[in-house]
Amino acid sequence: MTERTIGWGVVATGAIAHNVAGDLRQLENSRLAAVSSRLLDRAGTFAREFGDAATTAYDDVRALVDDPAVDVVYVATPHAQHAPVVEQALDAGKAVLCEKAFTTSLADTARLAELARERGVFCMEAMWTRFNPLIVRLRQLVADGAIGDVRAVTADLGFVAPADRTDRLWDPALGGGVLLDVGIYPVAFAQMLLGAPTALTVTGTLNEQGVDSEAGLFLTWPDGVRAHLDVSLISPIPGSALVMGTTGRIEVPPRFHAATTMRLVHAPGRGIEESQTFEWEKEGRGYVPMLRAVAQAVRDGRTECPEMPLAHTVEIADILDQALAGLGVRYPEPAPVVSLR
Ligand SMILES: NC(=O)c1ccc[n+]([C@@H]2O[C@H](COP(=O)([O-])OP(=O)(O)OC[C@H]3O[C@@H](n4cnc5c(N)ncnc54)[C@H](OP(=O)(O)O)[C@@H]3O)[C@@H](O)[C@H]2O)c1
Repeated sequence: MTERTIGWGVVATGAIAHNVAGDLRQLENSRLAAVSSRLLDRAGTFAREFGDAATTAYDDVRALVDDPAVDVVYVATPHAQHAPVVEQALDAGKAVLCEKAFTTSLADTARLAELARERGVFCMEAMWTRFNPLIVRLRQLVADGAIGDVRAVTADLGFVAPADRTDRLWDPALGGGVLLDVGIYPVAFAQMLLGAPTALTVTGTLNEQGVDSEAGLFLTWPDGVRAHLDVSLISPIPGSALVMGTTGRIEVPPRFHAATTMRLVHAPGRGIEESQTFEWEKEGRGYVPMLRAVAQAVRDGRTECPEMPLAHTVEIADILDQALAGLGVRYPEPAPVVSLR
């Protein structure tokens, strides 16, 4: 039997919206039903590139979420504009896939997670790394005891962001800064393996606009279990991850958040070491497994994906909130997405 076709509504037409809409075309039984941009022309161009004859272009988020052809609203605006869009979509009873970071604060993330639960609709942060078959395998290996008990995690990621201070990566009104944009990947990786930490230390640098340009985090769990995380928008940190256990380790070489290879090292004693390499040939730009899982969950009437439940999104937001507070970053109230007509 052919599976029900899922209609996707994409909010925003920036860089990630293009990449994800491209991957959406590789999905069986999914279509771009609608797209909304602050500029109608832009939405029209996007609809022609990624949609079909029936794809609707809007310059109004409300109209998109109310469109009966839209089953899932994919939110690809800057961080600060996620919360207002997610709220509208949930109020309309629509499933939501929202780009990382889910919102700019723990309070907004917890409130929207609760709203999704109340409404009984699907809602997920687009943490695509969790759906990468290598990361799925890594979790399984750890759960099966392939490296013994996890004692430490290290993960880093960085790049040199554009110098232009109006870029969304630097603009406080758009939720700029390294923690929300890049830091979330190492934080989500550590949280995936170890859950919520019991303590956190952060050090970093704020730029003249008051947003964080680099950060080092040290997270701890009971019994000395720890994670060292390092992220930057001003230096090209490679993006490695390492999970260290009592009988071995798993190495994910750069860039771990988009992994195509990893190595399991079994080292139960001094001088004893054997390793196994795993590889993944990327599907599309790497978003296909996540999009497929979301489409299937919506088809099945499920409200979450086990790979990235809302409870994890809230724990990740808590870590990021503490780190932002530790660095002294303060964001203004999120502003809604408005048409530029
Ligand atoms: N999963 C990933 O691999 C990945 C990679 C990159 C980014 N992201 C995430 O995706 C989101 C968007 O990032 P991006 O790199 O695509 O950003 P971007 O290229 O700047 O695009 C963001 C888009 O949001 C829309 N928008 C709505 N309100 C806006 C406002 N007030 N100011 C500016 N733009 C506004 C604009 O589209 P319209 O003009 O059409 O309204 C803009 O093109 C962020 O949450 C980011 O963390 C994820």
